[in-house]
Amino acid sequence: MKNQETEYKFSAYEIISKKRDGEKLSDAEIKWFIAGVTAKTITDYQMSALLMAIYIQGFDTAETASITDAMLYSGKTVSFEEECVVDKHSTGGVGDKATFILAPIAHACGVKIPMMAGRGLGHTGGTIDKIEAIAGFKTALPLDEFKRSVLEDGLALIGQTKDIAPADKKIYALRDVTATIESIPLITASIMSKKLAEGANGIVMDIKVGSGAFMKTRARARALGKSLRNTASRFDKKMMTIITDMNQPLGNAIGNSLEIIESVETLKNKGPKDITEVSIQLAGGMVYLAGITKSHKAGIRKAKEVLKNGKALESFRDLIKRQGGDEKIVDDYSRLPQAKNIKEVQSLKAGYISAITCQEFGEHVVSLGGGRRKTDDVIDFGVGITIVKNTGDKVKVGETLVTIHYNDGQEKLVEGIAEEILTQNIKIKATKPKVLKPLIYDIDENNKC
Ligand code: URA
Repeated sequence: MKNQETEYKFSAYEIISKKRDGEKLSDAEIKWFIAGVTAKTITDYQMSALLMAIYIQGFDTAETASITDAMLYSGKTVSFEEECVVDKHSTGGVGDKATFILAPIAHACGVKIPMMAGRGLGHTGGTIDKIEAIAGFKTALPLDEFKRSVLEDGLALIGQTKDIAPADKKIYALRDVTATIESIPLITASIMSKKLAEGANGIVMDIKVGSGAFMKTRARARALGKSLRNTASRFDKKMMTIITDMNQPLGNAIGNSLEIIESVETLKNKGPKDITEVSIQLAGGMVYLAGITKSHKAGIRKAKEVLKNGKALESFRDLIKRQGGDEKIVDDYSRLPQAKNIKEVQSLKAGYISAITCQEFGEHVVSLGGGRRKTDDVIDFGVGITIVKNTGDKVKVGETLVTIHYNDGQEKLVEGIAEEILTQNIKIKATKPKVLKPLIYDIDENNKC
């Protein structure tokens, strides 16, 4: 697909009313409209009206591909031509540090990875904020340097620049204030325009589902997966979608430095089971999409091999070094920013942990300064929360459930967080929960795999 010049003149009023009445829009109409948004000849109120019409009436696969294409070509794009490069994208969750584990694993298996990631806003942290906890790590490479590094070194990790899909930035800001975020075709176009712009030929999509995720139900997660796979097929890209649980934080650490430490521990084969398992599944998918193995299962076997023999850890160390970061953090965690104080939150009850909420832990870390409420907020890399007891674990009165990492002057805030954790965020019951939620729900591929 490629973008077309706005050859025809349409009427914004007619396009909005057509979609309002449930009619299908043509490729040319959609591209004309989005080009107008970028060129500012379409007003915010016209775009907002069209967004609400799309939210209510939907877009079919062809319309979704057209809006994705229009947003993709609203800015710069990177192309790796015939080279098979594979990326992963997560719809976001609390404690999701899988990128720092799966990218070195897949890279150590021979996959070329153009990793372009975002910053955090709201309760979910951002990959770029987390990696910037490592002193010196440069996340703003020019696009030609990014491309060179992917081709020669096999892995580069940068932040999304303002040149990538600028129409998405504008449209996302309007969706945010017009109650039109939760539209599957609009989410698809937003994610895919950015992923396609960075040049990946294969994408493994981690769709999070649960209380701490964007998609609260499996039905919605599946619908998003189908829409993403269909759109990837239209652009001739391979896609695997993996629906994973986000009803409790992934791994034990939430907060920037703490998550980097947990990632390195996982690369040293000492990480929590859940983050290890999710990372291996996703990395195995990348190895398979890159054509290195003939099946996802074989990709998983290869992923486990390089995790076990230390090659993945060395890949992470090399990535940090290449991008100007302090690679000594891999052996000495005290070189990462740290909070001054640690509070242990101790159980008031005996029994078994039956549930740990998710979004609330992300919000606690934001309130400590570990995330942003506004785009210009400055992040405190050292603060965060570590979960010590997980769902299903037995606890005694006085045992530590979580630790809160905080700085001087935050004592009152920390007391409030501790109280909320004990009364609302961690549920303890007398009997052991019978069934724990699965970690991986569905794995699907599109017809290009
Ligand atoms: N992530 C995105 O990049 N866009 C959306 O619309 C939702 C999640």
